[in-house]
Amino acid sequence: MLVLGIESSCDETALALVDNSGVRASVISSQADIHALFGGVVPELASREHCRLIGPLLDSLLAQSGLGDDPWKHIDRIAVTRGPGLMGSLLVGVAFAKALSLAHGIPLIGVDHLLGHLLAVEMEEPVEFPALGVLISGGHTHLCRMDSPVDMIVLGRTIDDAAGEACDKFAKMAGLPYPGGALLDALGKRGHADPRLFPRPYTHNDNLDFSFSGLKTAGSLWLSQHPECRFPAGDTPARERLGLAGQELCDAAASYLLAVAETLSIKAERAMSLFSPRSIIVAGGVAANSVVRSVFRVLAEKRRLPLHIPSLSLCGDNAVMIARAGWRMAQAGRHHDLSLSAIPRGQVIPEDWTCGAAQAC
Ligand code: KG4
Ligand code: ZN
Repeated sequence: MLVLGIESSCDETALALVDNSGVRASVISSQADIHALFGGVVPELASREHCRLIGPLLDSLLAQSGLGDDPWKHIDRIAVTRGPGLMGSLLVGVAFAKALSLAHGIPLIGVDHLLGHLLAVEMEEPVEFPALGVLISGGHTHLCRMDSPVDMIVLGRTIDDAAGEACDKFAKMAGLPYPGGALLDALGKRGHADPRLFPRPYTHNDNLDFSFSGLKTAGSLWLSQHPECRFPAGDTPARERLGLAGQELCDAAASYLLAVAETLSIKAERAMSLFSPRSIIVAGGVAANSVVRSVFRVLAEKRRLPLHIPSLSLCGDNAVMIARAGWRMAQAGRHHDLSLSAIPRGQVIPEDWTCGAAQAC
């Protein structure tokens, strides 16, 4: 089965073709440089960029697919991110997918972006279910029980900032450009973490939710007490100036990331007292973080469970993961029709698929 995946939930426009044996073709265009000028994603600009890019990106995907003059006759499903995300951005992808579905008579599948992140790792290795899913991105921090690849129950979530936001905001306060998570990681690699410098917020309770606002406040306080440690300003790209950062900032970055990673791991371990997973999946943009990866490696070893974290290219937003999740939904007999709605951040993704033989729209 060959699935076309479409992703446009935030600031990446991406399309991919995935079949039973892996990725056939994939294209992605990031708007990060545009939003960096404003210190964060500007929703209106994001949706305009998706509109501008999605058509040419599809042409380029089909050109590299090797599917010949009539690629549509080979494509079995069109899977599109329906949410959660920025409404305007989602609408571009969903409307585009519906148009393709209608024009070519190919069944449509609306994909939960979070399920996509969690299934990305299946492109690289088989996953044992039930699994504990730890979804950490710029917009979400979820602990999930996954009884099968398509059955996901959210056990806990952030009540304020997501893990990625907590990283990006500390980076921004330290003088790094948006999105600062990866730059903070690069600084942290040169530092020594002090486990007592920052708190493990919202862990002295018995629930599975997260709150990173206390950590952010501690980070802001530390930076206000150490103004000389801020990342040096300059015209050359921040990545090229990383070497100019002082040791104290690198140590603080390492300590801050350790606080984020250990907070996630404390609650992940707590979730394992509710059910007995056969594996742990860590996914989303923040799964690219080196401290998070090593803290979860330790947790998985302690619990003697296989740990699945995608390679870096599959951690951030991409369409391969959406095509894979669509492929899984198709295997489970699920599909949508042209009434498929886009679901903004903060709302529950409805289970409104139709089960059974797929119908063309
Ligand atoms: O999953 P993603 O690409 O988009 C969303 O769905 O939100 O995640 C983006 C987030 C950003 O907050 C970014 O700073 C963070 O992932 N991120 C990192 C790293 N790479 C990306 N955070 C910490 N360390 C990294 N290496
Ligand atoms: Zn994402």
